[in-house]
Amino acid sequence: MIAMKEISFTDAVERATLQLQKGVLVTAGTQKPNTMTVGWGGLNFYWNKPFFVAPVRASRFTYGLLMEHGAFTVSVPFEGTMKEALALCGTKSGRDIDKYAAAGLSLAPGKAVDTPIIQGCEVYFECVTRMKQPMEPDFVPEDVREKFYGNDDWHVLFWGEIVACYEV
Ligand SMILES: Cc1cc2nc3c(=O)[nH]c(=O)nc-3n(C[C@H](O)[C@H](O)[C@H](O)COP(=O)(O)O)c2cc1C
Repeated sequence: MIAMKEISFTDAVERATLQLQKGVLVTAGTQKPNTMTVGWGGLNFYWNKPFFVAPVRASRFTYGLLMEHGAFTVSVPFEGTMKEALALCGTKSGRDIDKYAAAGLSLAPGKAVDTPIIQGCEVYFECVTRMKQPMEPDFVPEDVREKFYGNDDWHVLFWGEIVACYEV
């Protein structure tokens, strides 16, 4: 069992937000999990609860796992670390390779959900998906549509209520 120290959500927000644009590792699935790099979305409050919102395009292998399983984890690397793993998990698909073997990543059990976390990171969020929110193309500005969604590969926002927030 991993040693674990609960941290406050507000403390975690700052640490995770700094890393987010470089990428965090979102893991979905249980028996055969998969991990992808996510650089958008982030942390906020809704319905009086803390959430991590993960925007995941329908083309991602992880998307199917997120639709199938009601939870996901977010592993936030220490600043400047895991660059190769973030690049691999952000360019290769779990459809084609075992990313854990390829990137030398080790899993550890989640504390509050059945989905694992990635060992060696700074902050962890374990999330229960409370809403899946497709984008409404008519509500997206034209310049954004052209720049990011020309191929119709829209993001779905997975709203994960944070049920555990900790460092190890
Ligand atoms: C820094 C970085 C950030 C990324 N952010 C996102 C994101 O927020 N949403 C998304 O759908 N894809 C994002 N990607 C792309 C996916 O991580 C990439 O397509 C990945 O190979 C999907 O893996 P999968 O098919 O195993 O799910 C990002 C890639 C990088 C390198």
